[in-house]
This record gives sequence, structure tokens and C-alpha cells, in this order.
Amino acid sequence: MVKIDLKLLKKESEKEIEKAGSIELLNEVSKKYLGKKGKLTLVLRSLAGLSQNERKKVGTEANELKIFLKEKIDKELEKMNLVGSVNESEWIDITIPGKKMHSGHLHPLTLTKRKVEEIFQSMGFSVVEGPDMENEWYNFDALNIPKDHPARDVWDTFYLRNKLLLRTHTSPVQVRYMEKNNPPLRIIVPGNVFRHEATDASHEFQLFQIEGLMVDKNISVANLKAIVGEFFRRFFEKDIKFRLRPDYFPFTEPSFDIAINCFACQSKGCSVCKGTGWLEVAGAGMVHPNVFKNSKLIPKDWQGWAFGFGLERLAMIKYKINDIRLFRSGDLRFLNQF
Ligand code: FA5
Repeated sequence: MVKIDLKLLKKESEKEIEKAGSIELLNEVSKKYLGKKGKLTLVLRSLAGLSQNERKKVGTEANELKIFLKEKIDKELEKMNLVGSVNESEWIDITIPGKKMHSGHLHPLTLTKRKVEEIFQSMGFSVVEGPDMENEWYNFDALNIPKDHPARDVWDTFYLRNKLLLRTHTSPVQVRYMEKNNPPLRIIVPGNVFRHEATDASHEFQLFQIEGLMVDKNISVANLKAIVGEFFRRFFEKDIKFRLRPDYFPFTEPSFDIAINCFACQSKGCSVCKGTGWLEVAGAGMVHPNVFKNSKLIPKDWQGWAFGFGLERLAMIKYKINDIRLFRSGDLRFLNQF
């Protein structure tokens, strides 16, 4: 007779069933107690060697335990089959209402850029891009700004260790494009530009510009004014007051600055317009003969105008934003308004 305490066997086997946690382990526990060579099976097999009284007593107890264990194991198996073989920690409650996915949206500068591109494309302009890292030739010399020319100081430049620089404006793309494409041509050039400048409500050290260039025969300032006026009308969706004032850029002659009535103070004067009532949005002018020469075009054969808009300034006016620094602040309270 195998001497086994059935009470202890019950305690031990119950504990193991409860702890098993997976179908495989439960099968192992079942084999350990109820299998051919299982602990309880051995007890039942050894009943023959007992006295009649003892056989009856131990036999009843062992059979009851067998039924009890079978039922307990079946119950556990049923539970596990209901949830597959997933641990409790992996439970998913499929009745919980779903979480709404947070969908992003376009940045106000992207919206503005796309709107500007759409308007100029509808007027026959192609959208062209140039490199953010530029060399001195395209950023300055080819634009009629030789070394030691005081105009270089207007653009505080980030010079890079690889002899390149971060372009200070999108105008270098004028030359890059004219070198490879013969007039007549109409392009706009959107892109980032960088200036080593202190920031304030209307100045950033990284900004977005939109260069415009139109070259053909018999082009004049009248064409420039007409295109810019039409652009403003479509962009702001109303007639807008703007002015062209004489300015100086080495790569245009004559040159202008283009300004719009300040939206923030209705032209009374504020920190956005620095008390002038006008917000400068672009520099512009007629392409200088030296720029044509540097682009391998014969100056007397062509005329053209160019402009360089600050995209942030346009967005500020359109959306009534009174601080340019908000655009790159990453502040969701600002961004979620678009
Ligand atoms: C230029 O960058 C010239 N390349 C523009 C040009 C192109 C003139 C073609 C003639 C022909 P300017 O530095 O003024 O010019 O900049 C042009 C526009 O960029 C400004 O009118 C303004 O709208 C914007 N801008 C310039 N500096 C900043 C700044 N720090 N922060 C925000 N916007 C700026």
C-alpha cells in the first residue's frame, strides 16, 4: 500500500490547480494526480492490499477526491478556454467604449504657404525650391553683393564650418533658376531662411519667405503692382490697402518695400508695426542687369521683377496673430485654433 495522506494530497493538488494559470500546466497537474502513474491513481490501485474496512474507508475517500479533482480541473479548463490561453494581465475588455483617435491638422504656416502657392499657380507661376544651405556666390555675389559690400551687413548670416551658410533669403534661387531656364519665366520660391537676429513681435531668426520672379520682354513695375494687388485680393479675400515705397536692394533697380495697413492697431501704431501703422511684408524691385549677367542672360534682352514676401507676416495679417514667435512656439493652445 502506498502510504499517502489523502487530506494533504487534496490540499496540495487544489493549490496546484489554482496556481496553474495555463492549459498546459493544468494538463500537467491532471497527469500528476489522475494520470496512469498519478499520485491518486496509485492510491486507488493499492486498495487491494488493505483490510476490508480500511479499503472501504480509503476507497470512498480516494474516489471522492478523484471526482472532486476532475471537476475542479474541468472547471478551470472551461474558464481558460473561454478566454483562450490569455493571462489575466492580458485581458481585454471588448465592451469598453473606444478611445477617439486624436487627428492632427496643418500648421498655420503650411496653410498659408499652400494658399499662396495655389494663387500664384493659378496666375501661371511654377513653384520652385532651392537649398537651405547656400554658398556665398548665390546668396551674395551673384546678387550683386560683392565681399565687403555694406549690404551684406543687412543680413546677419549664420556661416557654417563647411564654407557654406544658411541662406538669408530666397533670392539666390533667382540666379540658380535663370542659369538653367530661359525666359520667359514666372516662378515662386517658398522656403526657410535664417538670420542671426534678435527676435521681437514681428521678427524671427528663422522665417519663411516666398520669392517671386517674372522675366519677359516689356515687363515693368506696373506688372509687379498688378500681380501683387491681385495676390492680396485673393489671399485676404478683400480689397487691401498696400503701398510701394522706394527701398534699396543691390539685386533690383529700382527697389521697393511693400507694406500693408497694420491689422493689429488699424494703422494707429502698435508693437507689431513698431508705431508706423504699416507692416512691411515684402521687398521687391526690377531685376538688376548684373543679376541677369550672373545668370548668363543678356541684360538688354530681358526685363523682370522680383519680390520676397515674409510668409509669417502674411499669416499674421490673415489670421490676426500679434506675435510672430507663436508660430514656432509649439504651444498647442495656439496651434489648435487652426
Ligand atoms: C529680402 O530678403 C530680399 N531678398 C527681398 C527681395 C526679393 C527684394 C526680391 C527684392 C527682390 P528683406 O530682408 O526685406 O528682403 O525681407 C523680405 C521680407 O521678409 C520682409 O519684408 C519681411 O516680410 C520678411 N522678414 C524679413 N526679416 C524678417 C524677420 N526677421 N522676421 C520675420 N520676417 C522677416
